[in-house]
Amino acid sequence: MAKQPTILITGGAGFIGSHLVRLMVNKYPGYHIVNLDALTYAGNLENLTDIEAAPNYTFVKGDITDAQQMQSLFAEWSFDGVIHLAAESHVDRSISNPMSFIETNIVGTVILLNAARAHWGDFSGKRFYHVSTDEVYGSLGETGFFTEDTAYDPRSPYSASKASSDHLVRAYHHTYGLPIVISNCSNNYGPYQFPEKLLPLMINNIRNNKPLPVYGDGQYTRDWLWVEDHASAIDQVYHQGQDGQTYNIGGNNEWKNIDLVHQLCDVMDQLLGRPDGTSRELITFVKDRPGHDRRYAIDATKIKNELGWEPAVQAEEGLRKTAAWYLANTEWLERVTSGAYQAYYDKQYQPQ
Ligand code: NAD
Ligand code: TYD
Repeated sequence: MAKQPTILITGGAGFIGSHLVRLMVNKYPGYHIVNLDALTYAGNLENLTDIEAAPNYTFVKGDITDAQQMQSLFAEWSFDGVIHLAAESHVDRSISNPMSFIETNIVGTVILLNAARAHWGDFSGKRFYHVSTDEVYGSLGETGFFTEDTAYDPRSPYSASKASSDHLVRAYHHTYGLPIVISNCSNNYGPYQFPEKLLPLMINNIRNNKPLPVYGDGQYTRDWLWVEDHASAIDQVYHQGQDGQTYNIGGNNEWKNIDLVHQLCDVMDQLLGRPDGTSRELITFVKDRPGHDRRYAIDATKIKNELGWEPAVQAEEGLRKTAAWYLANTEWLERVTSGAYQAYYDKQYQPQ
């Protein structure tokens, strides 16, 4: 009998990773999905309780910066593919502590590349997929879009670390022939996002009647993508993307931060049954983020034309679904903000 395809997903306890793990475990019962995650502050196994008992799923607690552990993992599992998402992901944290971004995003990626190279023989049938960000391209003016040919111009320690890991993944392709794909995606939103990022932070603050900190003049623009649309794009790129290629993934859904926060406030007032305008009064303009990129916008023509992928969830629907999810899951929010979620691994996975 042919070996069951075994895929390593790194960072699967995080925001995007947990949506991807759920999609892959449910959609491909014939695959075995190994979720490797260090369970940093951003890793939360409570995101995955619905699939944790699936027979085609295994969680491994591990750190991609631990070379010995990664070599042993590859020796044990004989992976057919890697979808690499594990990273430090928050720009503000990269400004206050760049070093952990260098260690995880750059060194950790090279450690995974080395493990793949050492254990994948002649590479036939293998694939190493690096999930990356549009922030590697830098910042746009009022017009224009990032394409796959846009020159890299990262400007925060986070985006510089992701640009660096993209370059290293491509270097392993060109130098050693490692089969790779890369995708660069815009800002994701939806359930299970750590409430340090814009939308869950604002939702949590509105719920608690706390100020809504809008950085600088609020005129910064992001292109927002529903997280499940990103997971389905990753699935398509993994299965149908061409070796050595890069695909930009975006929502065609640009918002200035202040307009998005206004829209969110209005949705939250409706969902909470508060008088119109209540939440907008919480908006507070605060000191700007240093080096704040003005605008990101993705041209996703390539993935649409070559793989037929398009986002399924539109802006208003996605924002409403997001707000409703956090309000229906206040216990999740409470456990994340209190730190209680961090005990889940010991309770569920460690022998007593
Ligand atoms: P996240 O911060 O929610 O999750 C990151 C996960 O990686 C966590 O579960 C964490 O525990 C794990 N991790 C961190 N360091 C690790 C280490 N040393 N070893 C093993 N695991 C480790 O991030 P996210 O928003 O889900 O982003 C996932 C990936 O997608 C990242 O590579 C990010 O750069 C990329 N990306 C994110 C966005 C976005 O909008 N969030 C957009 C484009 C690309
Ligand atoms: P964020 O969710 O941190 O994503 P990224 O920096 O990767 O784009 O921030 C999205 C935008 O929202 C960004 O322009 C910074 C801004 N922002 C605020 O204005 N206030 C906040 O409290 C946060 C977290 C972000």
